[in-house]
Amino acid sequence: MSDIDAWEDDLLRRYPETPASAGFRDYVNQVRPGVREFYFQNHRYQTFDFVKRKRAQFLSLDRRRMGMWEAMEFLNQLVDDSDPDIDLPQIEHLLQTAEAIRHDGRPRWYIVAGLIHDLGKILCLWGEPQWAVVGDTFPVGCRFAEEIVFHEAFRENEDWGHAQYQSRLGIYQAHCGLDQVLLSWGHDEYLYHVVREYLPPPALAMIRYHSCYPIHREGAYAYLLNEDDKSTLKWVRDFNQYDLYTKREERMDVEALKPYYEELLAEFFPATLRW
Ligand SMILES: [Fe+2]
Ligand SMILES: [Fe+2]
Repeated sequence: MSDIDAWEDDLLRRYPETPASAGFRDYVNQVRPGVREFYFQNHRYQTFDFVKRKRAQFLSLDRRRMGMWEAMEFLNQLVDDSDPDIDLPQIEHLLQTAEAIRHDGRPRWYIVAGLIHDLGKILCLWGEPQWAVVGDTFPVGCRFAEEIVFHEAFRENEDWGHAQYQSRLGIYQAHCGLDQVLLSWGHDEYLYHVVREYLPPPALAMIRYHSCYPIHREGAYAYLLNEDDKSTLKWVRDFNQYDLYTKREERMDVEALKPYYEELLAEFFPATLRW
């Protein structure tokens, strides 16, 4: 996959804003070859042990201290050299998301969640491969649900042959709640740990689960969810429209928006955070 946005572009193909008639949709055969390879790598290498290792490696948050705006500028170094005209700088996706939420008169915690939701992608700048940063997330330690895109690719995952991990509940109790479930590793979970002390629960849920398409869009894994997750997922789905459908060709005036957003960030976060 040539760039970090290719998976998100593929999400728009899988979940178009105006869905075509059911029989017309054939995601699997229409996927671009590089993106297909990305899904296969992701499904092959995201094992229970891999997730444990990455959590141990990154969740100590001892890499760097940065403020939020600084993190946005740092993330903005992620540009696709191979095709600089096509993709919007990362900071503009964040601003477009936040501006759409603001335009709809949503609360300030919601706007700030939109502004920062992809900052976990800085994992790429620390040398992590794309399949370990972006992609649909899904539970590990239990059976891979058929609703996960390219489910057949899990045959190459070493957990496929693990009897307990491939039982329906795996290592979990029925209806234990999403909070108890280990998801495949990526930018969502990482950022959640950076900001968990500073935002209200719905904002944290949007950040932590926004890539979990198998659950929030496909309705898989209902047997792991508890009562609280139902309202949590309502927020995640509500946020998903802003994440997916606000990408515009038109450029954002970053400097003009900066004062408003710096003030907003200061309302929720300290001057520097641990990354
Ligand atoms: Fe994201
Ligand atoms: Fe996003």
